[in-house]
Amino acid sequence: MANFRHSFCCWLFIASIFIFIVRAQPSPEVQKRIDKAIKDAANKTNLDYTAFVNPFIGTGLTYGDVCPGASVPFGMAKFSTDFTGYAPAGYITDETQKVRGLSPLHDSGTGSSLGTYGNFEIMPLLCPDGFETCTTTLAARERYRMNDTDDAYPGYFSQTLDNEIKIEATSTRRAGLERFTFPKGDKPYFVLDLANDLPASFAGGTMDIEPEKGRITLGGHWGSSFGPGQWHYQAFACYDLLDGGKQKLDEYGIWTGDNYGLDAKGLGQTHLNLSINLIGGTPYQSGALFSYDGKPGVVNIRVGVSFVSVDQACSNAESEVGSSSFEDIVNKSKALWQEKLSKIEIDVTNTPANITEMLYSSLYRSSLTPNNATGETQGVFANTTSFYFDSLYCSWDTFRTFYPLMSLHSPVEFAQIVDSYIDGYRKKGWMPECRANNLPGWTQGGSSADVIVSHFAVNYHNEARALGIDLDELYAALKADGENNPFEWNTEGRQVNVYQHYGYVPFAVLDPSSTGRQTREGSRTLEYAFEDFAIRQVAQLLQKNDDIKTYTNRSLFYRNVWDPSVVSDGYKGFAQKRFMNGSFAHTDPIDCSPKDSDQSRECSLQEDNQVGFYESSSWEYSWFAPHDTAHLVEIMGGNDAFVARLEHFFNAGYFQPGNEPSFQTPIGYHYANHPAKSVDRIRDVVFTNFDITPEGIPGNDDQAAMASLLTFHLLGLYPVPSTTQFLVLSPIIPKYTIHNSYMNASTTVTVKNYDVKSVQKSIPAGTPAYVERVTINGKPTASRCHFDFYDAFRLGGEVVIELTADKDSADDCAGSLPESISTGGFSIVR
Ligand SMILES: *[C@@H]1O[C@H](CO)[C@@H](O)[C@H](O)[C@H]1NC(C)=O
Ligand SMILES: *[C@@H]1O[C@H](CO)[C@@H](O)[C@H](O)[C@H]1NC(C)=O
Ligand SMILES: *[C@@H]1O[C@H](CO)[C@@H](O)[C@H](O)[C@H]1NC(C)=O
Ligand SMILES: *[C@@H]1O[C@H](CO)[C@@H](O)[C@H](O)[C@H]1NC(C)=O
Ligand SMILES: *[C@@H]1O[C@H](CO)[C@@H](O)[C@H](O)[C@H]1NC(C)=O
Ligand SMILES: *[C@@H]1O[C@H](CO)[C@@H](O)[C@H](O)[C@H]1NC(C)=O
Ligand SMILES: *[C@@H]1O[C@H](CO)[C@@H](O)[C@H](O)[C@H]1NC(C)=O
Ligand SMILES: *[C@@H]1O[C@H](CO)[C@@H](O)[C@H](O)[C@H]1NC(C)=O
Ligand SMILES: *[C@@H]1O[C@H](CO)[C@@H](O)[C@H](O)[C@H]1NC(C)=O
Ligand SMILES: *[C@@H]1O[C@H](CO)[C@@H](O)[C@H](O)[C@H]1NC(C)=O
Repeated sequence: MANFRHSFCCWLFIASIFIFIVRAQPSPEVQKRIDKAIKDAANKTNLDYTAFVNPFIGTGLTYGDVCPGASVPFGMAKFSTDFTGYAPAGYITDETQKVRGLSPLHDSGTGSSLGTYGNFEIMPLLCPDGFETCTTTLAARERYRMNDTDDAYPGYFSQTLDNEIKIEATSTRRAGLERFTFPKGDKPYFVLDLANDLPASFAGGTMDIEPEKGRITLGGHWGSSFGPGQWHYQAFACYDLLDGGKQKLDEYGIWTGDNYGLDAKGLGQTHLNLSINLIGGTPYQSGALFSYDGKPGVVNIRVGVSFVSVDQACSNAESEVGSSSFEDIVNKSKALWQEKLSKIEIDVTNTPANITEMLYSSLYRSSLTPNNATGETQGVFANTTSFYFDSLYCSWDTFRTFYPLMSLHSPVEFAQIVDSYIDGYRKKGWMPECRANNLPGWTQGGSSADVIVSHFAVNYHNEARALGIDLDELYAALKADGENNPFEWNTEGRQVNVYQHYGYVPFAVLDPSSTGRQTREGSRTLEYAFEDFAIRQVAQLLQKNDDIKTYTNRSLFYRNVWDPSVVSDGYKGFAQKRFMNGSFAHTDPIDCSPKDSDQSRECSLQEDNQVGFYESSSWEYSWFAPHDTAHLVEIMGGNDAFVARLEHFFNAGYFQPGNEPSFQTPIGYHYANHPAKSVDRIRDVVFTNFDITPEGIPGNDDQAAMASLLTFHLLGLYPVPSTTQFLVLSPIIPKYTIHNSYMNASTTVTVKNYDVKSVQKSIPAGTPAYVERVTINGKPTASRCHFDFYDAFRLGGEVVIELTADKDSADDCAGSLPESISTGGFSIVR
């Protein structure tokens, strides 16, 4: 998703201005360390891949909203500092913003302008005039950091405040260690915040200080960062302050404050119990304040978190951290990361250093979320025996590339997440679309979970049972999304009654059967149709013959919003929203594109987004039928007309690389039998929009949707979701091996004639970069535009992609085009 609440169009505009501000984070040492690690890795084996990761990519002013905090893979805990200003993940490189504390819960990459999590902030303080003078309130305690000091690598995060207090953190799945280094001679004080999370959504909670034990327990209820405000989730934390008896508390007490003069401290008091109801909107500011005996210099604090209870938060800290040292936990976290990162090994020696860094940083983020909250469930999921993942934020973002990447190398993890999706159906009747903060978030395109679980089923149906997935139940969950109209399709399922009745989601429809915001009818129809294709794929797998017919038919409903009469820039035929009576409700296809002349138009979930498309334009969404692009080629006038229209789309500036509807568009040329043009276009997309800086991704990472897209671009592959098909492009990495340890399979892709000169925005003439021939285990593939998971990756082997500089000869699939329903594609189950 793009940044909700900011106008999408203005967001682009702002980003291009802010880019000129001088950036002074992170520490230059971060890049130096990575450069050295990559250089030292040449001609070596047993590489430490964690050393290639730059956690700060996407934390800058282009609103990648990445969390660089300390986390294990899929960690529920992500320790990061929280900043003032726009910073949904807590952290932001922007030097003009101030730190307000370090906190253990975050999401990564979301576009919620409110911010997400950030509960239980702790802030180290110097209070030279004693306890009563400590700066406890949000406004009083916020501070600048020292320029050029932020540091992070997998499992570790640190930052130094402008008063020279150094903050460090490392973590396990549900706990972590914090280390604070104070300037010599200063007495350490800390303020701990009970009430404030980033969205300021506090709805009541309690806190207890146990001075003898040196323990503070706290918890309460908060609201969603991206969903209806009336629902609340619970969260708890347990702070152990004594480092196993090595540290001693001095003063302790509670504090409370507001922005209008209240700033009170209660020395020696140990209990807070705050209710939800306040007059006016300002949240409570309240929590604990304590100091340490003497001037210890370094203070270690252990933190456990839980979504179940304070007792469980404490036991999580005990079982996951116990008495381990900070270095122990860092090492354990790094080992977990090494295991994830080594699933793709590359020829580091012959890969440009920036590409190595982009790849491993992307792989890192591709295992950072969703947050594994198994055993930490609440509400209808309390005590579920299934796996449970929080922050599926949102499925509309992740179905395109995130889960297909996971599918390539990590079927065990993928199966756990699929189990969590199916459990959503068991407990609520529909699979989750945008679960965030343990609550249902706003639906974006429809029930995109369908595409995710379908992708799992078609790729791993032979292993599904062994992986704990019952395909019949998976299918029942799909059918529920496809058939059962929820009372409120705003947060789950789809508006299927009217969709089935009309063959599209009509604009201005009377729908007495369900509630939801009347917007996005064009894009919802396109997404619903693709979701129906996902259901059809599993129907085919399970030989549900009636359903195959029904859902194949419904997968073609995308055609029903095609208005052949609309003309834009001389190109004819565009997706449009449509009335009940069949007439189209015309909007300009350029609206909500980067070239929209009205920069204040709302394009996201706002009620006044009336364009008919979600965070995108009709120009962009009119390319969307990943299962039937051959038909789009036909209605746009055939291969040449289709290619001319794609060229115009990019040249006119309608492409919006920072958001998900754009992901497959640059590879559209493949479907018109011009694969070399896709290669040129992808080079341009990659080197215009991605690099190794904090501004190195073009939009919200969206739970690593961007990271996984970039990974596929670097590998020269693009997955068609809910299928086993990969579109073949020109790898930007000369040789790589993908390990799928569950399948005991390793596939090595070797790029013959790879030339490092092709690693730039536009490929110089005479440089080999275009796909001439593809072989799998020595046999040429039937087409050089696509191959299949079952042939290339499932059992492992050798793939050779041979490149040529002769672009014209390579600009042809030399065999079948990628599959489409209307040309008989996707007709067999592998
Ligand atoms: C790596 O090995 C190759 C071939 O043996 C050699 O040409 C190259 O200089 C080596 N690179 C480094 C950085 O040692
Ligand atoms: C950081 O650098 C900026 C200028 O780039 C300067 O205005 C600011 O005062 C510096 N901050 C600190 C804490 O030194
Ligand atoms: C908080 O106060 C309410 C209202 O008096 C009471 O019902 C509740 O038990 C209290 N909770 C705690 C943990 O003290
Ligand atoms: C952590 O790992 C480093 C590097 O492998 C090693 O030197 C150090 O001894 C380890 N520390 C602990 C506490 O295990
Ligand atoms: C690597 O990336 C940095 C930061 O974007 C850039 O300054 C540098 O030119 C790049 N190096 C190469 C060889 O592309
Ligand atoms: C979950 O299990 C715990 C421990 O058995 C129990 O105390 C709690 O009531 C259960 N919660 C629900 C909602 O069933
Ligand atoms: C999630 O946590 C559970 C419980 O610790 C564990 O069994 C599972 O392997 C974890 N999965 C992932 C993907 O991290
Ligand atoms: C799809 O179903 C509609 C009615 O539901 C029918 O009019 C149409 O002919 C069907 N299309 C195909 C290709 O079967
Ligand atoms: C269809 O309905 C719309 C909205 O009520 C109306 O503007 C349009 O004229 C109608 N078209 C026809 C052909 O009746
Ligand atoms: C992978 O190898 C192990 C050990 O040989 C074996 O137990 C397991 O069944 C194999 N997995 C698959 C999916 O073949």
